[in-house]
Amino acid sequence: MADLRSDFLGIKSPNPFWLASAPPTDRKVNVERAFRAGWGGVVWKTLGEAGPPVVNVSGARYGAIHGPDRRLIALNNIELITDRDLEINLREIKEVKRAWPDRALVTSLMVPCDEESWKAILARVEETECDGIELNFGCPHGMSERGMGSAVGQVPEYVEMVARWCKAHTRMPVIVKLTPNISDIRQPARAAKQGGADAVSLINTVNSIMGIDLDRMTPDVAIDGKGTHGGMCGPAVKPIALAMVAEIARDSVTRGLPISAIGGVTTWRDAAEYIALGAGTVQVCTAAMTYGFRIVEELTSGLAAYMDRKGYARIDDFRGRAVASITDWQHLNLNYVAKAHIHQDLCIKCGRCHIVCEDTSHQAIVAKLDGGRVFEVNESECVGCNLCVLVCPVEGCITLDHQTQGVDPRTGLAYERAPLPWTAHPNNPAVKAAE
Ligand SMILES: Cc1cc2nc3c(=O)[nH]c(=O)nc-3n(C[C@H](O)[C@H](O)[C@H](O)COP(=O)(O)O)c2cc1C
Ligand code: SF4
Ligand code: SF4
Repeated sequence: MADLRSDFLGIKSPNPFWLASAPPTDRKVNVERAFRAGWGGVVWKTLGEAGPPVVNVSGARYGAIHGPDRRLIALNNIELITDRDLEINLREIKEVKRAWPDRALVTSLMVPCDEESWKAILARVEETECDGIELNFGCPHGMSERGMGSAVGQVPEYVEMVARWCKAHTRMPVIVKLTPNISDIRQPARAAKQGGADAVSLINTVNSIMGIDLDRMTPDVAIDGKGTHGGMCGPAVKPIALAMVAEIARDSVTRGLPISAIGGVTTWRDAAEYIALGAGTVQVCTAAMTYGFRIVEELTSGLAAYMDRKGYARIDDFRGRAVASITDWQHLNLNYVAKAHIHQDLCIKCGRCHIVCEDTSHQAIVAKLDGGRVFEVNESECVGCNLCVLVCPVEGCITLDHQTQGVDPRTGLAYERAPLPWTAHPNNPAVKAAE
């Protein structure tokens, strides 16, 4: 049986599944329920500075997008950091860590952007004996208007500065949680590393308005007739997070920087994908808020079964294995040719492939409608774009097959040719200039 134990910055947990900083981790009773269910660790709901706690709205703070089967695809929230008293949170963190020494307990923090504020909270958090801190530079709503959250995360110089303060004022491992609301994720990640951070976690939520109620003419989640942009998470954000994790994993400056991956993890497969891109742990919020804490049973058993199938004894045996396959467009092999192939025995003759290719792709699926409906690929036109594969309602009915023998009727060139990336392509003006 695969060994799921994780050691992230020296923080040990029985599995790599941590609950992300959010409502599931905002109090002792929740966190203990989560640990009893089997979660490897938690990042406690973000604490703020001492003093009167923040005030949340008392109306709908969540919005969502559902699929046609009412499955939740994306969740949006306008919740702030913890609205519980700092002293109560600190006491509970200490009690939970004492009672659950084998689980990871990281405390998330967000205080004003000055060194004294960070120094003060770090001293208090250190007393709890928790395993580390996560700097919340991510929330795109509410706190950002007060100069915190994503207002810090969007300025690499601030990220570096605060990371450096934290490293100077605590012995605890420092994880910098990044906002996706930025054009180049490598900049804040590099800044975090430059400031001495031990790791990055990503992503926090994506700035968003989920919809407009066309009767009330307000955002579809509104408080007394007004709404605001919030933070989106859940399955819909996973592709965004995967791309950002990959950028950090392969960047020459941040390569090797430990990553705790977050964003849409709902199944063991999502987690395995992040691990394949180099993540040491994965954090989960929406899936727990949608299905409850016991989802961790499927996450751990599914991941272990996959690892057993593949012969991976430990997480590290496949961690980062997919990173080398990710490159820039200019390095893709332009001599590689694939063509669509329709498996007639599976075809239900709906015609969707024909319509989409005819209207929006390369007019490469021929419909023979006399004497029955038959759809066939015309290889002289097919560019292998994959659209028909994606819209066909029958899985496996259309496959995209790599061509290796013969001549491409579309281009007149042999299928089997040496790899040719754009960087060496004769149509590339830069190559011509170099010649
Ligand atoms: C209701 C709610 C509250 C959240 N509060 C915080 C927070 O206090 N601190 C923080 O760093 N992230 C917060 N997050 C973001 C999550 O920790 C996580 O980064 C995000 O939800 C993406 O993960 P997911 O797709 O698994 O939900 C919150 C998310 C939700 C849904
Ligand atoms: S792969 Fe693209 S071009 Fe080829 S048949 Fe399908 S939709 Fe048309
Ligand atoms: S979309 Fe798929 S099932 Fe429908 S006609 Fe095309 S190949 Fe057949």
